[in-house]
Amino acid sequence: MSQRTDAALYLKRDKRYFLLNNHPTAVFTPIVSATAHWWQSGVIYQIYPRSFRDANADGIGDLRGIAETLDYCAALGIDALWLSPIFPSPMADFGYDVADYSGIAAIFGTLEDFDDLLTQTTRRGLKILLDYVPNHTSNQHPWFAASRSSRGNSKRDWYLWHDAAPDGGPPNNWLSNFGGSAWEWDEATQQYYYHSFLKEQPDLNWRNPEVVAAMHEVLRFWLRRGVAGFRIDVLWLLIKDDQWRDNPPNPDYKPGMPLFHSQHPLYTTDRPENQDIVARLRAVVDEFDDRVLVGEIYLPLERLVAYYGKDLRGVQLPFNFQLLQTPWDARSIAGLIDRYEAALPVGGWPNWVLGNHDNPRIASRVGAAQARVAGMILLTLRGTPTLYYGDEIGMHNVPIPADQIQDPLEKNVPGKCLGRDPSRTPMQWDASPHAGFGDHDPWLPIAADANENNVAIEDRDPRSMLSLYRRLLELRRQHAALSMGSYQPVVATGALLAYVRYTLAEQLFIVANLGAQPAEFALQSVGRAQSLLLSTYLDGGTHLTESKLFLRPDEAVIIALVPPTPDSP
Ligand code: NOJ
Repeated sequence: MSQRTDAALYLKRDKRYFLLNNHPTAVFTPIVSATAHWWQSGVIYQIYPRSFRDANADGIGDLRGIAETLDYCAALGIDALWLSPIFPSPMADFGYDVADYSGIAAIFGTLEDFDDLLTQTTRRGLKILLDYVPNHTSNQHPWFAASRSSRGNSKRDWYLWHDAAPDGGPPNNWLSNFGGSAWEWDEATQQYYYHSFLKEQPDLNWRNPEVVAAMHEVLRFWLRRGVAGFRIDVLWLLIKDDQWRDNPPNPDYKPGMPLFHSQHPLYTTDRPENQDIVARLRAVVDEFDDRVLVGEIYLPLERLVAYYGKDLRGVQLPFNFQLLQTPWDARSIAGLIDRYEAALPVGGWPNWVLGNHDNPRIASRVGAAQARVAGMILLTLRGTPTLYYGDEIGMHNVPIPADQIQDPLEKNVPGKCLGRDPSRTPMQWDASPHAGFGDHDPWLPIAADANENNVAIEDRDPRSMLSLYRRLLELRRQHAALSMGSYQPVVATGALLAYVRYTLAEQLFIVANLGAQPAEFALQSVGRAQSLLLSTYLDGGTHLTESKLFLRPDEAVIIALVPPTPDSP
């Protein structure tokens, strides 16, 4: 656990830690040594390759397109690009159905294009993370073709096959995340196979050592090529119950909710055996220098943190999606940060996410004004931030006409607002046709306001969202207190969220107004203001005295505090 202690005692024990206020549940996070890993101090930027830049005019983004944008990425101030899957795939789930783990889908380019992209990113000091999809393959993967060819095939046990129930129905009640039963009948071999998602995405059998070895080799293939690590798809799903027990009903299920939520996925997710699988993935990555594993895990905090692993031998960054799920009000967010910091294992490095390709855009969820506040929170909390492409220019959900829906989840489970297309639309580069995305009608529609909401316009506007993100990312580089410093909550009320990030050398005070009314904050409890480093308004209009701060609606600020003198308490 992080060091949770009484503030006064803490001061007595070590004067280097200073008391900033009497937060009742203060969590003192340790001061981290100077030897930070790049994935601790850095910022990850998620690119959805289909939607970033289309260099070959087929309406779908590609690797050469991404290469054209690297100056933009480098100038933005991020450190690593995470590319959603780029491997050969029938694209039933837009690449999360991999047909060959060691190649590049033709629509995205070639292995040479990838190597070239890697060279060019490295030249700019950027890294690449790939998306590793270990839970399932495509049904077009040669492994599955072999597995389904006959019961006696040597790869039969690479997937989860089971006889029918006595009535001929599925072996148990397990449900697919993408609607209906998770079991698909195979007429030729007279058994069912299990799929957590689409029937075109059969689940691999991670109890089979040959599968484990083959999937480890996939990691090594890309690590040898020079990738900096992986985001791991649905990491908490890899192992299922070996007794195939029925999942119990979910007592909180309400009619109208997607069927998948009618059960508690006790026997299909987060099984105890998963921890060993994760530790072994980490051991493979540790054969190489300073690489990172980021785990996609949608679990409650207390279970999420288990994925740091015993003795931190799990994934370095189990994705923390709590900002996506917590109501956007100051008290809820403050409580969340406290709970998260307190739940982290000793030495476990935090991380934060505001958006991704599976969730609504932050600008649509909290509104344009609060999206600026959210950006400041994302980039000033302790831990590695992951930034979703387009959020830095304030892209919002794009409504998708019914006849243009692409997402298989929306098609399988219609009418439940599960569609993910609205947050996957093409990046808005400029006001040229197709928003500068490419020379062809794109695979998803472009936002109606792309002429006003794009990189080119925001680049020229010193108060734009893009200017705000660039400034925040610059400040993270300039101030170790923001990238690596400790975190201390500060008591605040109403719509204000407040905390201090500090090193021995500096203290930065962050206050965010999550409300639409002006608010005041008396600084006595934290110290004296030295200077205003940044306001989300970017206009020089923030009213700050040495002892008092007047925040405008939807304003968040970073204030440098007068450093404590060596013997001040
Ligand atoms: C999680 C991915 O983020 C999502 O896009 C995908 O549909 C599922 N995993 C299945 O791979």
